[in-house]
Amino acid sequence: MKFPENFLWGGATAANQLEGGYHEGGKGPNLADVLPGGKVRMKLLSQSGFDYEMDTEKYTYPNHEAIDFYHRYKEDIALFAEMGFKVFRMSIAWSRIFPKGDELEPNEEGLAFYDRVFDELHKHGIEPLVTIAHYETPLHLIKEYGGWKNRKLVEFFERYVTVLFNRYKDKVKYWLTFNEINGATHFPLFGLGFSATSDETRLQESFQGLHHQFVASAIAVKLGHQIIPGSQIGNMLIYAPTYSYDSNPENVMHALEDGRIFNFFCGDVQVRGEYPTFINRYFKENDIQIEMEEGDLDTIKEGTVDFISFSYYMSRTEKKEKTPEEVGEGNLIGGVKNPFLKASDWGWEIDPTGLRIALNELYDRYQKPLMVVENGLGAYDKVEEDGTINDDYRIDYLRDHIKAMGEAVEDGVDLIGYTSWGCIDLVSASSGEYSKRYGFIYVDKHDDGSGTLERSRKKSFFWYKDVISSNGEKL
Ligand code: BG6
Repeated sequence: MKFPENFLWGGATAANQLEGGYHEGGKGPNLADVLPGGKVRMKLLSQSGFDYEMDTEKYTYPNHEAIDFYHRYKEDIALFAEMGFKVFRMSIAWSRIFPKGDELEPNEEGLAFYDRVFDELHKHGIEPLVTIAHYETPLHLIKEYGGWKNRKLVEFFERYVTVLFNRYKDKVKYWLTFNEINGATHFPLFGLGFSATSDETRLQESFQGLHHQFVASAIAVKLGHQIIPGSQIGNMLIYAPTYSYDSNPENVMHALEDGRIFNFFCGDVQVRGEYPTFINRYFKENDIQIEMEEGDLDTIKEGTVDFISFSYYMSRTEKKEKTPEEVGEGNLIGGVKNPFLKASDWGWEIDPTGLRIALNELYDRYQKPLMVVENGLGAYDKVEEDGTINDDYRIDYLRDHIKAMGEAVEDGVDLIGYTSWGCIDLVSASSGEYSKRYGFIYVDKHDDGSGTLERSRKKSFFWYKDVISSNGEKL
């Protein structure tokens, strides 16, 4: 495999799944703090009308402590450096900077924490790649304003990013605006910070929220370019190539329609700077009206992203008419079971070729540099008596996906980096479990809250180190 020189190898995380210290350093509560651990989380995420109240008698709240990166970041960054990371993807918790979200002045302690993290990364020659919003909207903005349904959030976000860009202009060059922005209609709570009022209003509310995020993202791109000359600001999508179940033209058409709304709608707005024409019919048929302010479309046009980043975990297989039995349990973003694919322990279908398809589809459409900023296998790990963790299944998974990226590079795709998800074990976003592990680094922490939080190197740690030092040749 030949990867470009200076290819950005690394790992990815998000503040709420990693940091802990949930009310330290002046941090305010955010969405992740009120999401319980365990299977119930997915139910809450998918249904309408969540009330954001905690019930500590009934549930655990693993994001409060997460893996305590807040206190252990030096040790963790040293381990990333040992693997040879060139880049580390992390997010800033908005509510560390603005505890409620609508204040005029930021919280100095929160800002200082990220200064320390960035300094530590640079000390080891690791470039930070920072997601500005990763499923951690300040709780106050959710409860008082209704999350991104409310236009006011554009103003608060503008204030937040202005503070970030000014403060970290000498430390951070790579930024991403909204994590998995196109997941909004499936899980509005995660990205848009609201639980739909009802199933009937879900689409209308989600697309309105997305419009506000498009404007906010474009404002961030423009500001970033002004404040940090040479900065690279990307969008972030969940990308799932959408296959037709068979060659029945009805299914092919359905896969095309469904796939482009899911995969391309947000990208078209953020990369091309325009709402695509195909969305008009969808809006009409679903009775969706977007309220826009004068100047919004110009802002969107002026604030197109420099590169496209995306997460890749699975493809989707679509069929026009489907029975509940045909839908796979892990197909969180739609589709039916694909008879050609095996799935992870959580039912996520494993499809390395789908990553090559994703890269080609995105590059054919946009001709912009691409970065895979999430990919990985959530799996149960076993610690042997001698303390080793032989995660060959994870190595196999990653090897196959890296090979697929190499093929895409051969195909002519401009791929600039790869940060595998959860490079250190952390709290799962969709299930709030510790036991769904992605890391090269094992963290001794368990679903029942027990564990020392001690870190240890898995077999994949040494394997990834070789991958990086050989620039992807030694797989
Ligand atoms: C992505 C998110 O959807 O997938 C991450 O951006 C998340 O926050 C990752 O952790 C893996 O999903 P999960 O549910 O297995 O943690």
